[in-house]
Amino acid sequence: MTVHFIGAGPGAPDLLTLRGRDLIAASPVCLYAGSLVPRAVLRHCPEGARVVNTAPMDLDAIMAEIEAADARGEDVARLHSGDLSVWSAMGEQIRRLEARGIPYTVTPGVPSFAAAAATLGAELTLPEVAQSVVLTRTPGRASSMPKGESLAAFAATGATLVLHLSVQNLAAVVDTLMPHYGADCPSAVVYRASWPDEQVIRAPLSELPDAVAPEISRTALILVGRALGTPDFAESRLYATYYDRRYRPQSAQSNWAGWKDDTSTQGGAP
Ligand SMILES: C[S@@+](CC[C@H](N)C(=O)[O-])C[C@H]1O[C@@H](n2cnc3c(N)ncnc32)[C@H](O)[C@@H]1O
Repeated sequence: MTVHFIGAGPGAPDLLTLRGRDLIAASPVCLYAGSLVPRAVLRHCPEGARVVNTAPMDLDAIMAEIEAADARGEDVARLHSGDLSVWSAMGEQIRRLEARGIPYTVTPGVPSFAAAAATLGAELTLPEVAQSVVLTRTPGRASSMPKGESLAAFAATGATLVLHLSVQNLAAVVDTLMPHYGADCPSAVVYRASWPDEQVIRAPLSELPDAVAPEISRTALILVGRALGTPDFAESRLYATYYDRRYRPQSAQSNWAGWKDDTSTQGGAP
């Protein structure tokens, strides 16, 4: 018996990985985390599967479901929205599984920040404009921020910021960011990226709070940074005609001349 943690993606049911789909189809038990996991993904469950929404359950009750499946020798597909590496509560579940000697696997999903960037048609890391993306949040009722992870400290770097779980604090977020990014900095709120009712609000930073309707109070991301709007950025060297690189050696003296394309050991071009 194995618990398969699966990133269910940001919302659109076809943004599930093939591996995730196949594991769901092979698992007699499916535990899914509430309203952010698209119901259409549950159609991959086998007929007769036990399908449980864990949103109203506490961790003990979720573990009781897993232990019952373990006693029956049944695999569990454990679905969380987006990807599991951020704000999934997977860590605490894994800790309990390890304590009980229950095996698990982890299958990544498309994170909501990537879906929002796709909706915006934005590369968040433009050459010489921004080369870092900060995925962060503001403190919430259930979670404080560790010392040192203040929004102002991240803003001081000028990186592209993607704020989760924070649209309800939009005005305060903008107040904190303005001294660092400037009133005219391109910014956006993306509500329910990739869902049929997705909404996109783009505005200069200072105008963002007024542009976002008060109804948008959850399931939205705030994106801020020069990379979101400038046409004024350098081209990447990767594809520059003169740039000497593994896949396009520029001369017989090149470090890369004679290099064999072996993607099995070297990785590929982006
Ligand atoms: C508990 S976190 C889950 C994050 C998730 N693990 C991920 O990879 O994106 C929930 C927050 O993620 C963001 N979020 C999740 N899905 C979203 C979507 N489709 N569109 C916009 N924001 C989303 C919102 O900020 C929401 O409050």
